This record gives sequence, structure tokens and C-alpha cells, in this order.
Amino acid sequence: MTDDTPNATTRRGFLRGTAAVAGAGLAAASAARAATPDPLITEVQSYASGFGDPVDAAPYGMPIEFEKHVVRRNVEWLTESPVSSINFTPIHALEGTITPQGCAFERHHSGAIEMSKSDYRLMINGLVDQPLVFTFEDLLRFPRTMTTAFLECAANGGMEWGGAQLEGCQFTQGMIHNMEYTGVPLRLLLEEAGVQTAGKWVYAEGHDASSNGRSIPLEKALDDVMVAFFANGEALRKEHGYPVRLVVPGWEGNMWVKWLRRISVYDQPVDSREETSKYTDLMSDGQARKWTWIMDAKSVITSPSPQAPIRHGKGPLVITGLAWSGNGRIERVDVTTDGGVSWQPARITGDAKSKALTRFHLDIDWDGSELMLQSRAVDETGYVQPTKDALRAVRGLNTVYHNNGIQTWWVKADGEVENVEVA
Ligand code: MTE
Ligand code: CO
Repeated sequence: MTDDTPNATTRRGFLRGTAAVAGAGLAAASAARAATPDPLITEVQSYASGFGDPVDAAPYGMPIEFEKHVVRRNVEWLTESPVSSINFTPIHALEGTITPQGCAFERHHSGAIEMSKSDYRLMINGLVDQPLVFTFEDLLRFPRTMTTAFLECAANGGMEWGGAQLEGCQFTQGMIHNMEYTGVPLRLLLEEAGVQTAGKWVYAEGHDASSNGRSIPLEKALDDVMVAFFANGEALRKEHGYPVRLVVPGWEGNMWVKWLRRISVYDQPVDSREETSKYTDLMSDGQARKWTWIMDAKSVITSPSPQAPIRHGKGPLVITGLAWSGNGRIERVDVTTDGGVSWQPARITGDAKSKALTRFHLDIDWDGSELMLQSRAVDETGYVQPTKDALRAVRGLNTVYHNNGIQTWWVKADGEVENVEVA
């Protein structure tokens, strides 16, 4: 879908319908400027009368100081130790779909380790004809592939199971990032080692002390799993697994093993800590849902949102957000401004890539009254993002994982926004 979706018609209608009002607004604004000359228009500014920085002032650029609030943030009470912690992507302040590595959330179970390319080794062993050890240079000589994929921690939105708590989509939904990866299909490395017929699972581990070992069915490993070394066109950053991490499109972030050390082929899953006591969903009856790998379709409005209130008053308002599905492409995103009484389709802006973040926009004429804003994603399988209550009815309240429920932002008349739930 492109900008020519049904909503584009709504947008044109809206522009036509408010042409007179918009015209009046423009006239008023020009009158104000005429009465008080704007020095930014009438005066020569310092930056226009001297030299700017030379070309080598920033061999590797950082965001300009005016954007220094667009950073990862954490929630202090969430973990005791920063080496076994998490921070959150500032999704309320980003646009488009690609997350710059510098502000993409991090999750480490035992801290980010520093590993050079020359020290890097990847072992493939277990039920293979020929156990192999690859250096980084070896990996660079395999045919490469590219994919853009979201990584969402299974615990994203986890604090919301028990009720609305955190003020900002950075904190409620920011355990997510979306990057363009380049690397080698895991399939090629497994073929090189020769998987024996008894091999049904791979077990991936990292070089860090936590090792973060996870079992992955061979079918997925041979499908779209990638041994990645570039993200967004440059080397992986240390915190995202430099020099090599696993990319497991559509599946929970915990399986995307960083600082990838070993792939062992087994005839059965390993039942490691990360797939038994953690990353399973404890239901009300005491049973745990296991192997909940796929991240179901979800969406969130990133602006307006609690950290991105409306400052410009009533009139044209750009509503925007992100949608994603571990089961494929986002087909549609509906938005409601009245807490779910009526819905309208948002525009999918740009490409809706499979298993990647998808940007949506809805342009409305805000009359300054309170809104109950929600978005609801529908993916290509027809799956519709559920309400939080619908999820709670099925899964209970014991788990922190896989909360893909609809998020509600209460926009107040003064433009401030609060995280609430509608019954
Ligand atoms: N891999 C290793 N080796 N060690 C880890 O602590 N954390 C996992 C996963 N891979 C982890 C790991 C978890 S829980 C998540 S959500 C993602 O990495 C986070 O990836 P990121 O830090 O690039 O956002
Ligand atoms: Co995680």
C-alpha cells in the first residue's frame, strides 16, 4: 500500500473542507508578522555571515545538540543492576521505520562485551558431518543477503499487563528496533557443516557470560535466520552484538543471540534457562505456554503520545505510529479517536515490509476536544491486534511476555497526553 489508500481521499476531503479556515489562519499569521517584523526573516543571522564548521569537524557525526533528548532511557526500578538491564528506544521522537543503532534499545543479561573481529570465532557442531569453526574473515567470503526486520523483546509492554503505568510509548513499547541487516544465511553455514538427518533443532549461544542460549527449530534456521554483521549499512554496534549476531525475523528478541559463539545441532530442544524459567508465559492455571516464539501483530501511536503532546493547538493534526507483525506484512492499521467506538483506516506510508516496522499516518482536523486515541494493526494473515482485556481473559495476569494489546492515549484539551485504558 502507498499514499493512495482510502485515507488519502479523506485527507484531500479534509483539505478542501477546511480551505477557508486554513486561509483565514494564514492571513492572521501574516498580519501578525507584518505588525512585528520577524528578525529571523528580516535580519542577517550569524550563521549566514561567517563560516560554518570545516568538513573534518566530525569524522563520524553525532546528532546536533538540539536533538540530544532523542536518546535511550531506562526505568530505574525495573532492574537492580545495569549489566543485566534494559533501556528503551525513543520511538515517540523518531519517524520513518529504521532505528538508528545509536538510540536502539539494548538488553544484556550480563553486560555488553567487547570482541574484536580478529578474536571472533563461530563454531558449528553437534549433529553435523563436519564440525567447523569460522573466523570473521571466513564469514565475509560467504554469499550475503539482506533483510529489514524488527527485533522486539518478548517483554515489550510487559509492565502493561497489570494496568496502565508508564507515561510514554518509549517506556510502554520501546523494547523494539528495526534495522536493515546484511549477513550470511545460517542455512549456508549449516550446509557447509552438513546437518545429519537426526538434526531437528539448532541451539545458538553467545560469547558473553550469560551465553543466552536458545533452541531454534531447524525449519526456521534454514528459512530466514541470518548470521549478521552489518546493521543500517555499518558494522553492528558493540551493544547489538559486534561483530556478529543472529537475526531471527519475526521471532522474540531473546532468540537474536548477540556476539554469536556457537550453533549446535541437536535432535531435540535444549530446554535452557532462557526457554523454561524465562520466556515462557505463565497462565492463570499454573501451566506455562512454551515456544511462544512469534511476535504477533501490534501497533502503537507514537505521536501524539505522553512524551509527544500536542503543542500547536487545534487544527490540522498529524497522528503517526508504528505497526509490525512477526507473521508477515501489515495489511491495515485502523485508528480511533473515540476509544474504539468508530475506526478509520490510517495511511500506510512507504513500504509495508514483511516482519519489519511499518509506519502509518492519519491526518485529522483536531477541534481541541479530548481524544481517546488507539491504533489496531491487521496483518496479512487477517490477524487483528486484540485489546489488552481480551488478552488478559485468555492469558491471565501472571506473565510479562507477549503483550500485543491495544494501547490507549488520552489526549486532553490542552494537548497533554496520558496513558490510560478504556473498558
Ligand atoms: N544475546 C546475548 N548473547 N546476550 C544477551 O544478553 N539478550 C537478548 C538478545 N540476545 C542477549 C542476547 C534479548 S532478551 C534481547 S531482547 C535482544 O538480544 C536485545 O537485542 P539488542 O540489545 O540489540 O536490542
Ligand atoms: Co529481550
